[in-house]
Amino acid sequence: MIVCHCQHITDRDIHAAIDWMRASDPGVVITPGRIYRALGKQAECGGCVKLFVQEMRSNDNLAVPVELRALRAQSASGKS
Ligand code: FES
Repeated sequence: MIVCHCQHITDRDIHAAIDWMRASDPGVVITPGRIYRALGKQAECGGCVKLFVQEMRSNDNLAVPVELRALRAQSASGKS
């Protein structure tokens, strides 16, 4: 399914980019902009944002793994 008509990005492209980014860096915060850059493209009209984000949220690899969450808060409070 085409999600972004301006750049011809499909739902499969989005999921492949998310999976690749998560495998490359478990702590990366994945944003639509990073997905565009990973695919070598750039958003144009922005009309796809709602569907684009909806598609991102359906991917189990979108969230930072539980064991890597709140590391900043822990390091600031001195916990390890
Ligand atoms: S439809 Fe995605 S930027 Fe235009």
